[in-house]
Amino acid sequence: IKRITTRVIQELKTKGEKISALTAYDYSMARLVDAAGVELILVGDSASNVMAGHETTLPITLDQMIYHAASVVRAVRRALVVVDLPFGSYQGNSSEALRSAIRIMKESGAHAVKMEGGLEVKESIVRVLSAGVPVMGHLGLTPQSIYKFGGYAVRAKEETEAQKLLEDAKMLEEIGCFSVVLEKIPAALTKQVSDSLSIPTVGIGAGPDADGQILVLHDLLGITKEFKPRFLRRYADLHGIITGAIGQYVDDVKEREFPSKEEAY
Ligand code: KIV
Ligand code: NA
Repeated sequence: IKRITTRVIQELKTKGEKISALTAYDYSMARLVDAAGVELILVGDSASNVMAGHETTLPITLDQMIYHAASVVRAVRRALVVVDLPFGSYQGNSSEALRSAIRIMKESGAHAVKMEGGLEVKESIVRVLSAGVPVMGHLGLTPQSIYKFGGYAVRAKEETEAQKLLEDAKMLEEIGCFSVVLEKIPAALTKQVSDSLSIPTVGIGAGPDADGQILVLHDLLGITKEFKPRFLRRYADLHGIITGAIGQYVDDVKEREFPSKEEAY
């Protein structure tokens, strides 16, 4: 199998083929996601919510991100593996950002990093890029700034914020990011940004005109039950399937149905 590189991701936009992306945080799931043909696997800091049960992405550490990323890298044969730099590991200054990105690349074997924000983190992104580490940008509803936003509402509905987002996106392309995530912004703005950039946009809650789509794996599979924003399409009800299977196991143990003689030595 041919590996997906940042260059392949960029070529998909040129060819007019949509990019499929998903998150993964562990070896077993990453194997399935990769085998199913997703081009880009994000080891998202949503691991903080999905894997660790935190309410926000803020608590997850760089060491924890590296543990998740290394597990995913061991599983993946084809997809491009991108890893989120967690909150606090790159905003302070550009040398800290570079140190964090280098740790991720060296210790996990991932292929690229993702950083949230525009002009505010430009110096950090430039420094990471200058070391030869591919960077994916992330604009719109950036969850590491959730306490600044005060909630998970759609971003950039007003002209000034939309204008800043467009300028940030152009800046990210100019300094050399290979792609940019657009999260929870109006579909019309996604179209405008995607048309203005030659690098691909990857949307979540950003409408049909992004150059690719990304979702949190556990949301798509219906493992998480309570989280149901409009943008989420559930492709399976694993919550029902998993609790059903485990419930059956409990019953079988209680009823002495499991194990059978054939399942014993
Ligand atoms: O952490 C994450 O899962 C993300 C994507 C949803 C874009 O950043
Ligand atoms: Na993230």
